[in-house]
Amino acid sequence: MSKRAYAPLSKTSVADDFERFELRDNRVTFTAYVPNGSIARGIPDQGWGAEGGPACVSCHGAEVRGVGSIPSLAGRSPSYIVRQLYDFHSGARHGANAAIMKPIADRLTDVDRVAIAAYLATRTP
Ligand code: HEC
Repeated sequence: MSKRAYAPLSKTSVADDFERFELRDNRVTFTAYVPNGSIARGIPDQGWGAEGGPACVSCHGAEVRGVGSIPSLAGRSPSYIVRQLYDFHSGARHGANAAIMKPIADRLTDVDRVAIAAYLATRTP
């Protein structure tokens, strides 16, 4: 077998079955590595405390499984969630309803985004 160089998947997310990942199997699972305490930090029911802002569950539902046209966040890929939160903040995601998420995403730090994504990934879809 010849040697090949692979682009890193990401620093924090690794495919559980690399062969299936290479075959672009979209059911392949990933393990994401997050700093200790991220999952416990989760998403506060009272919103973002001193930072202010509404609680995620007030729109996304008590179990974060979505309400009406508001998407479910439960069990989603951590890298996807971090990306979307960053994109709302930067303006890269600017669809009609993105305006609702923009002020919320603007309040989040990198540490918040990682904690949110780690917590959401542990929720049952
Ligand atoms: C005021 C209502 C509201 C609140 C509060 C809210 N969201 Fe949202 N969220 C939305 C709407 C509406 C969308 C869909 C945006 C779109 O279509 O672009 C959305 C989309 C998202 C998405 C993208 C999901 C996808 O499927 O692409 C993420 C991630 C997200 N929200 C995370 C959060 C987090 C984390 C919080 C708490 C910090 C939060 N939201 C609080 C209304 C809200």
